[in-house]
Amino acid sequence: MFSLSKYFKPYLKINKINNFSNSMLLLKHTVVLGIETSCDDTGCAIVDESGRILGESLNSQTLIHLRHGGINPIIAREFHRNNIEKVVSNALDKASMKIEDINAIAVTTKPGLPGSLEIGVKYANYISQKYNKMLVPIHHMKAHALVARMYNNIDFPFLVLLISGGHCLLALVNDVDNFHLLGQTIDNPPGEILDKCARRMKLRNIPKYSHMPGGQAIEMAALNAKNPTDFTFPLPLARNRDCNFSFSGLQDAFIRLLTMKEKEHNLMGDNIIPEVNDLCAAFQMAVAKHLVQRTQRAAQFLELKSYLPNENKTLVVSGGVACNNFIFKSLETFGTHYNYKVVRPPPNVCTDNGVMIAWNGIEILRKGCQLDNKEIDPKAPLGKNIIDQVKLSNLPTKLVKLKYFY
Ligand code: KG4
Ligand code: ZN
Repeated sequence: MFSLSKYFKPYLKINKINNFSNSMLLLKHTVVLGIETSCDDTGCAIVDESGRILGESLNSQTLIHLRHGGINPIIAREFHRNNIEKVVSNALDKASMKIEDINAIAVTTKPGLPGSLEIGVKYANYISQKYNKMLVPIHHMKAHALVARMYNNIDFPFLVLLISGGHCLLALVNDVDNFHLLGQTIDNPPGEILDKCARRMKLRNIPKYSHMPGGQAIEMAALNAKNPTDFTFPLPLARNRDCNFSFSGLQDAFIRLLTMKEKEHNLMGDNIIPEVNDLCAAFQMAVAKHLVQRTQRAAQFLELKSYLPNENKTLVVSGGVACNNFIFKSLETFGTHYNYKVVRPPPNVCTDNGVMIAWNGIEILRKGCQLDNKEIDPKAPLGKNIIDQVKLSNLPTKLVKLKYFY
């Protein structure tokens, strides 16, 4: 039989957090501790009902996985296991709080890497039982979407574009617990493709990019582009009148162009093509065009069905790739044409973190939503799938004009 205390032997030090002060019990607001371990970041944050971050801690494995050329699920799980207790107690220390002062514990239960999810969920269960705190299961993608409401005044319903190393989707957010999925990637997410292409270009050999995730390195290199139009990429799924995404064709086209240039310059080993900045800018533009075109169709569909009000329409962009300023500005161009306010959380909250999990917990408790099942669900879909409704609407979409230099 599974023994909690045996499994969490290294975590039993948490017992020390017992001499708590009564002062915090006087808190008027709900305070939630959020735990995130769905992929490669171990995150914890304590957030109150007004959206104040009382304490926060994050242990990122990005650089470790960069060295391995992608996320290794076994390494990720091991790092979560070694770090979770430290990360949670750091967040509590920063908040000058004890677990007893918290009203509830929110934890990512879905979707994500099974081994990674399991560490966070077991640890959250352990402290929830030990300190008799309510456990609030959280859907990672919903948390990415809802956290924008902590920073901006955004009413339901709104449109969200979630772009990261693990996901790519468009959804209509009707309420805290009511999401409609409009489109999703049919192959890889954009972050994964940007990372692979950065690696293939050997951007890591350029010292100033060596500590950056691939997507960020491509963004930085693209800033130095002179002739980005020298490279052209196809617009993915141009004939499919839906909001789904596909990035694998762009990756293939990218590798073809890069290989051609390497041959042209007779390059071998770790050498980098002289046109690297232009290639980065052209590739980033191709990703931006695809994201914008699918977002345009989502907006057309929502208008056709009157699923959004005519005034105060908002597009929330979140996930690690939302940190990209060029992509964000391209989405703002969409906003100008379609009359949407385009917003994103701060960069450290676009990537995986504990704040969004704690905030989602606050939103669930505030609304009194029914709690989800507490089991982990690595492949959990997001809300009600209405992708076929979008397809049936058969809407033609002409891409808005995007600029290389904003
Ligand atoms: O949301 P995230 O931290 O983790 C998940 O994948 O869930 O996103 C990580 C991804 C990586 O693929 C990374 O290359 C990408 O976000 N990323 C960026 C930028 N910063 C991080 N992509 C493009 N431009 C950036 N500035
Ligand atoms: Zn994420």
